[in-house]
This record gives sequence, structure tokens and C-alpha cells, in this order.
Amino acid sequence: EKGGYDHFMLKEIHEQPKAITDTFRGRMLADKNMIKMSSVDLNLDKFLNANRIIIVACGTSWHAGLVAEYLFEDMARIPVEVEYASEFRYRNPIITEKDVVIAISQSGETADTLAAIKLAKSKGAFVYGVCNVVGSSIARETHSGAYTHAGPEIGVASTKAFTTQITVLTLIALKLGKANGSLSDQAFKDYIQKMNRIPKQVEELLKIDDHVKSIAAVYKDAKNCLYLGRGFNFPVALEGALKLKEISYIHAEGYPAAEMKHGPIALIDENMPIFVIATNKGHYEKVVSNIQEIKSRAGKIIAIVTVGDTQVKEIADHTIEIPDTQEALTPLLTTIPFQLLSYHIAVMLNKNVDQPRNLAKSVTVE
Ligand code: M6R
Repeated sequence: EKGGYDHFMLKEIHEQPKAITDTFRGRMLADKNMIKMSSVDLNLDKFLNANRIIIVACGTSWHAGLVAEYLFEDMARIPVEVEYASEFRYRNPIITEKDVVIAISQSGETADTLAAIKLAKSKGAFVYGVCNVVGSSIARETHSGAYTHAGPEIGVASTKAFTTQITVLTLIALKLGKANGSLSDQAFKDYIQKMNRIPKQVEELLKIDDHVKSIAAVYKDAKNCLYLGRGFNFPVALEGALKLKEISYIHAEGYPAAEMKHGPIALIDENMPIFVIATNKGHYEKVVSNIQEIKSRAGKIIAIVTVGDTQVKEIADHTIEIPDTQEALTPLLTTIPFQLLSYHIAVMLNKNVDQPRNLAKSVTVE
């Protein structure tokens, strides 16, 4: 049932090229440069006339929501707020009929997310679900939505659910950006062609598993780790830290790289591994200077860079290369090495990878 893999988590990590392709199927028609999603088409006026989009979710799904904030604002110029469902539902939030709420949940059963949906509906908002489990409570409770089609995710640590959530949300952002004119036809086409390459690129990336494993062996006994990223990759830093925490029980913090000097920099010494996403677009130069600051405090730097990088390679202790793509699509790639890294560290530490202590796959109580 584990398809020859030692753990469900590893199987699910390796299923991602197929899972992302399944998420595209029938939706992204790359040869025609089209995105067809009836759930968005049928509600296009609601999305395009929305005052704002409010995304509610928990855990890894909340991280996918954060990536979506960057995607929707950049591609479709629609204001987005991302909320922990548990906070949103209890703080007497301002919700109007002009708001669109997107609820993201792998299981479709998360109690806080479900309650947030019910609250938003009672205030007249249009609620759209992004779920993996077909027929789940959240899929039924929302007005409309899109399934991620990742297939069953058994490992408690979410992997393919995360990348397929980002895939669906990217398709929606692109579609809305095209519909409201925020994206030119050319930019839209470029994105589709680059998106279309992602499954193959993930497949390529999975081949570096041994390299990631050798890095895992060096840092498996660390007591604390920092994960840094900026822009589209800030949420990937949060997700990388969560993956490490939940299956290896090593304390890890994710931060926007520039926030480092507002506190966490005090933690840095020669015992602190720092995982930095430094892809060659967006905020590259700024991240390079963050890396230099770490270096001068003797922190250990493991950097995720774009293939062909030279600048970061000179400074970092280890680098992991990802294939080149549009900056907005990099989270689908940069997250893969972090999944593998956490997996290998947890295995090396003899932890129960698929069923970490104290955690349940779906959190049906608040
Ligand atoms: O099923 P959901 O997506 O609603 O679950 C939300 C979180 O409980 C979940 O993402 C959790 O954080 C995972 N264990 C992360 O790997």
C-alpha cells in the first residue's frame, strides 16, 4: 500500500508530479493557453466584484493561503486577507456580502475552518472551498469550490495536499487576472507555459534526494533551526519549519528574511542551521545580504538557489538547486527539498514519520 516506499510521507512526496498533473487535468489547457474552471466561471462576477478575498484555513492549508495572498494580489490585483480560522471565527470579524471567503482544507473536516465558513455564510459572504477529500463536510458546506485531486494523503504531515492547493489557487489567480485585465495575454500565456513544466521540474527535483539526505545527516542533531524566505517564498519558510517541527520534534521557526534583524538574529551562532530560500528573482540581492549577515555571525547556511547560481554558492555551507521558473511559481519547487529534508531527519532520529505524536490527520475538534 506504500507503493514500495518506507513511509506514506515519502510516497506522497514522490506522487507530487502526478498529483499536480491531476490537478491541472481538464482545467489548464496548455495547448490552447486556457484555464477552464466552471466553479470560477459561474461565479466570476462575485470574484471580480469582491471588495476583498478572505482566506480561512489552519496549519499547512493556511500556508497555502498565504502563498495565494501573494498570487491573487500580484496576478489579479484583488486585496486578500489570510486568517487562521480559529482566530477569525472568534473575533467578531467584519464580513459583508461583498466579501468572498475561500476556505482551504485537505481533509475538509477541520472544525475551526468549518465554523469559520458557517459564520461567513451567515453574514452573506460567498464561500468557495478548496478541499482534497471529495464529499467532505467543508466541500458540502461551501457555495462552490474546486477539489485539489491530490488523491488520499495518509501521512499526517501534509505534502502533496499543499502543492496541489497552491496549484489550484494559482489557476484561480491567473484566471481572475486574465478576466479583469490585470494580466496581459502574453503574461497569462507565459504563466501557463511555465506552469505546464512544473510537474516535470518537480520530478527532476526529486532526484536530488541523496543530496538532501546528506544535508539532513549533518543537521539532524540541531536543537533549533531557522527558515527564511521573502515574497512568495516567505510562506514556504513557514511551511518548511512546520514540517520539521511536526515530524522530527526539532524546534524550528519560519520568518520573512528581513524580519531576522528584528529579533531572531540574536539566536544565531555556530550551532544554528538556517535554511534560506534565495531564488534568483524577486528579492535575490536582499536575501544575499541577509545571508551575509548570518555568515558574519557564524550561522550555518543551507540555501535553496536557482540552478546556475554562483553568488550564494560562494557564501553558503550547502546549496540545493531548483530549476528555473517564474518567481510566482517557485513555491511549488522550493517546498520540495524542505519536505525531503524533514522526512530524512525524522527517519534518522527514529521518529514515527507518518503518525507523529500528539497529532491527528484531521482536527475535528477545536
Ligand atoms: O485538513 P486541513 O487542511 O484542514 O488540516 C489543517 C491542518 O490541521 C494541517 O494542515 C496540519 O497542519 C498538518 N499536519 C500539517 O502538515
